Amino acid sequence: MWNEKLINGDSFFDRDFDILLPDEVRVSSYTHWTPILIIEKAVEFINEKKCQKVLDIGSGVGKFCLIASSLSKAHFHGIEIRKQSHLYAISLAKTTQLNNVSFSNTNVCDLDFSPYDCFYYFNPFFENINPNRSIDKNILLNEQLHQKYVAHIKSELNKKGIGTVLITYHTNQTEVPNSFELVYEFENLDLCFWIKKE
Ligand SMILES: C[S@@+](CC[C@H](N)C(=O)[O-])C[C@H]1O[C@@H](n2cnc3c(N)ncnc32)[C@H](O)[C@@H]1O
Repeated sequence: MWNEKLINGDSFFDRDFDILLPDEVRVSSYTHWTPILIIEKAVEFINEKKCQKVLDIGSGVGKFCLIASSLSKAHFHGIEIRKQSHLYAISLAKTTQLNNVSFSNTNVCDLDFSPYDCFYYFNPFFENINPNRSIDKNILLNEQLHQKYVAHIKSELNKKGIGTVLITYHTNQTEVPNSFELVYEFENLDLCFWIKKE
């Protein structure tokens, strides 16, 4: 199994994950899938905070969830609007024996946020304001959707209880509700850890 190295604490690099992907998806790796260094740092925080259920908002081909679930006892669920990316994630999950990871092919607006105590947010709606950087042309992209999705996430996160964890990567801080406090920032990596305070 490709993730045994991770479970055993052996070196595992981004290129080791990339070779599992078909060419047409691998071209998106650098821009759209979280680097392993970032996943490791996020998992350290998730484990330290004893998070139980983590939602990856826009999970792509499942890189964050699959690697994180190899390094943590928390359950990771990825939701992804693109059917093909979701199918790649499902098929990669089948090549592991992980029982703490799952995926659904869902628009974020149709998801119940209540089961989760932690959220991972890697700028999922950016393509709506910069279509030149889009993964493909298979979904509707426009600025109004960006506003709608960001407002929806803010509203759902505002409903969460005190202590809810949010991890953002390459994300403008204006997309984070004021009810979350920045508790740690890796400025050079553009990675931020937040906790709901009110
Ligand atoms: C930057 S990628 C991050 C992928 C993954 N989280 C990772 O780090 O490897 C953002 C993903 O969000 C997905 N996405 C965009 N809008 C979405 C929406 N409304 N609902 C669910 N997923 C969405 C995109 O298709 C893309 O796969």
